[in-house]
Amino acid sequence: MKKLLSVALAAMMAMPMMAQKESSATLRMNDAKYKINKEIYGQFAEHLGTCIYGGLWVGPDSKIANTDGYRNDVLQALKDIRVPVLRWPGGCFADEYHWMDGVGPKENRPRMVNNNWGGTVEDNSFGTHEFLNLCEMLGCEPYVSMNVGSGTVEETAKWVEYMTAKDGPMAKLRKQNGREKPWTVKYIGVGNESWGCGGSMRPEYYGDLYRRYSTYCREYSGNKLYKVASGASDYDYDWTETIMKNVGDRMKGLSLHYYTCYTWNGSKGSATNFNNDQYYWAVAKCGVGVKEILDKHVAIMDKYDPKGKVDLLLDEWGTWWDSEPGSIEGHLYQQNAMRDAMVAAFSLNTFHQYTKRMKMTNIAQIANVLQSMVLTKDDKMVLTPTYYVFKMYRDNMEAVNIPIDVTCDYFAAENERDKNNQRVSPYISASASKMSDGTVVMNLANADLTQSNKLTINLGNVKGKVVDATILTSKDMKDHNTFENPDKVKPAEFKGAKIKGNQLVVDMPKMSIVVLKIK
Ligand code: AHR
Repeated sequence: MKKLLSVALAAMMAMPMMAQKESSATLRMNDAKYKINKEIYGQFAEHLGTCIYGGLWVGPDSKIANTDGYRNDVLQALKDIRVPVLRWPGGCFADEYHWMDGVGPKENRPRMVNNNWGGTVEDNSFGTHEFLNLCEMLGCEPYVSMNVGSGTVEETAKWVEYMTAKDGPMAKLRKQNGREKPWTVKYIGVGNESWGCGGSMRPEYYGDLYRRYSTYCREYSGNKLYKVASGASDYDYDWTETIMKNVGDRMKGLSLHYYTCYTWNGSKGSATNFNNDQYYWAVAKCGVGVKEILDKHVAIMDKYDPKGKVDLLLDEWGTWWDSEPGSIEGHLYQQNAMRDAMVAAFSLNTFHQYTKRMKMTNIAQIANVLQSMVLTKDDKMVLTPTYYVFKMYRDNMEAVNIPIDVTCDYFAAENERDKNNQRVSPYISASASKMSDGTVVMNLANADLTQSNKLTINLGNVKGKVVDATILTSKDMKDHNTFENPDKVKPAEFKGAKIKGNQLVVDMPKMSIVVLKIK
């Protein structure tokens, strides 16, 4: 790695300093085969800090404008990014959650201590009905994580029956609690991080538990389940290997978690106060870094499952910085700057390349936790730079990925905090897709903090005009939206793209994300 780094650095230093860099790319239309499942744009909502209580849910009696208890401002924001799937109730919380405590009359629901996240006492007013009804309002698929760590097989079996059966004792209870029709629930997670907060298990033991718990997740009334096994973290290839070997296609999906974070001397670094090295390190960690682990986990899956029956689900990803000063320890409330937007763009561009095997990802988390879409405080809400990337990218959902080859300069991601993890990353990240009406979407990001880049893209046989162009940029990588200044970072119309013959020429400003549509 060191050698690669010095070669890249030498190459960079040999290049004359230009006012504007130049780079090129080619669309590989002949290799456009795999659909970008809408679930690649999935979200995650855990009972953690103010993600659920305060973020999504304020209750019907709140003074904050709401519909049946859900905040109106947040609902609208989430509808605008067309959330395709929402994972709940955790995370670590899932393996201590007993669903029966969260159904029935609110006044009878017991209070509980959220042991994983700050010891906050919750009143269980947001439970199964509140979650599944929210999914219906958003028009998204629910993804429910079952409690394997501290729950029972019976509890799991009854939860599936409660949510999805038309008749029988659990359906009767659901009807008594106000819901006549079963919900449609496709995605079922059998445990979460079972190697850690989900039970500290060895993969062999968890594999057996998966087989046992999933056996009793029955399909009722025509509801088809897509069962997901708890997967590895980051570089734990042994977990993937063992689960693939011992569980095989008894699971439909195998999860994986990967965060853009690094803890050094007890700190992950500030979300809004960081230096250039830390910025470049984050971009490389989420781009070439995630690519490296996806390649390795996919190779293991290919070995055991060459026919591709089991999907990979990156059901937790995103940036993880120090919590905001003054916020409650354990609530993981962090700000979201232009750096996070760049992480989102580089990550999504990378995910598009893996959709042959990877069918879902869930950014952590939807509100007020880690790399969130929205931040709320009392009746105020701000949209984060990451939110805007999801909005700009939303038309990639269900479009066919067009592989794209990019030739550009590289940077060496050195970080005084993480010397053993040096990476070399391109400045430019790009992906493209073809929508069902033929529109081609180009997703481009220039991570360079000092130089703009003239990117010339060979469009091959793609014909048309630039019909829509949006840019997200700001003066400084640390810029972010606050309750006092909510519009500091927001998208704007982009005028720097032209088609000349079969070439698209894009003048990418420094530190910018551009999405173009050609039709
Ligand atoms: O997203 C926060 C936590 O990160 C989740 O609860 C857990 O699964 C992971 O370690």
